[in-house]
Amino acid sequence: MKPRQEGPSTKAVHAGELVGVIGSVNTPIFQTATFYYPNEKESTWKGELPEGTYIYSRHGNPTIRAAEEKIAALEGAEDALVFASGMAATSAIVLSLLSKGDRIVSMEDIYGGTFNLFKNELPRLGIETSFVPSVRTEDILSAVDKTTKLIWLENPTNPLLKLVDVEAVAKGAHDLGVKVAIDSTFASPMNQNPLAMGADIVMHSCTKYLNGHSDLVAGALAGSKPIVQEIWKRRVTIGGNLDPMGGFLLLRGMKTLAVRMQRHNENGMALATHLQSHEKVQRVHYPGLPSHPQYELARRTLRGFGGMVSFEMKGGQKAAFKVMRSLRMIALAPSLGGVESLASMPLNTSHVAFSAEERKRLGINDSLIRISAGIEDIEDIIEDLDQALDSAK
Ligand SMILES: Cc1ncc(COP(=O)(O)O)c(C=O)c1O
Repeated sequence: MKPRQEGPSTKAVHAGELVGVIGSVNTPIFQTATFYYPNEKESTWKGELPEGTYIYSRHGNPTIRAAEEKIAALEGAEDALVFASGMAATSAIVLSLLSKGDRIVSMEDIYGGTFNLFKNELPRLGIETSFVPSVRTEDILSAVDKTTKLIWLENPTNPLLKLVDVEAVAKGAHDLGVKVAIDSTFASPMNQNPLAMGADIVMHSCTKYLNGHSDLVAGALAGSKPIVQEIWKRRVTIGGNLDPMGGFLLLRGMKTLAVRMQRHNENGMALATHLQSHEKVQRVHYPGLPSHPQYELARRTLRGFGGMVSFEMKGGQKAAFKVMRSLRMIALAPSLGGVESLASMPLNTSHVAFSAEERKRLGINDSLIRISAGIEDIEDIIEDLDQALDSAK
């Protein structure tokens, strides 16, 4: 009888693993660019790989495949693909699903790199994007026109942790014949499974929670078999595949996803609660706080609220810079989702490409500090932040 492998923690450990190769308990690193053709007949390969057959590592590789199967299991998807970065995954999605003359409707509140791709690169290929300065379902759906092929969501958003009602948007989009892709990096598959909410494609920067150790850049997408097959063809053509060693790191990182996320969720909640009552803090953005404007939606749709906490300082930008300079354990670095706590200011990192006016419209204050709460002891994270906050006038 096949062992029960239903729970997310069990899937994180076991799903996809290619065990038993020469008795190995772990998936081997198939550090090879190419493979022997399995037999004479297969040498007339016509562009689609039979399951379990490998020809060349840009097309597929057993170590990478194991990571893809684990991600598919974690997202409850029919299939998944892994890429060399989150941006490579996003690029492959849009280059597969859209052609000249097509339009994307995107939330304006999205990762800066994605914004740059949509705003500055795709128009050269004749693909335009309507950016919706709102997370409300009606506003997103009313931006759809006859040329729209894809709605791009990010949930929760960076850095203000705003939420979108994925289920409602997906239902409305499908009624209009439009597909929905969602960047679920901030939630990870532990806190949210967007395909079960009706999205067509879920995308992750695996650089963040999925790998979880800030030692790898990788990306992934998951969805139905036909969609993944379409995008796979583009990955073969455009490249952007992850190398086998990277695939191994990702596999190893994902095994602890469930326990890491549990701690990230606990530390995020404790940190947000602490900062909320701090005298130097003006405002805290965290979906797990009852003060969050979409708290009810958060409780209904997220299984955990994550480790990302953003806050504004009472003393403005000057005070925020002082806090940043005074941190001792928490590293000043972009990125997020690793075991170590990190701090950054959207002003000079993720949103540096946005104009002051665009940042203002999104509600990104110049004193905003974004913390990625790691899995350290919460007392130590809080102590470091408190001493840094003390330094701010
Ligand atoms: C929400 C989000 N999506 C996508 C990306 C891009 O991922 P990558 O850096 O792996 O290309 C990032 C990176 O910071 C991100 O934070």
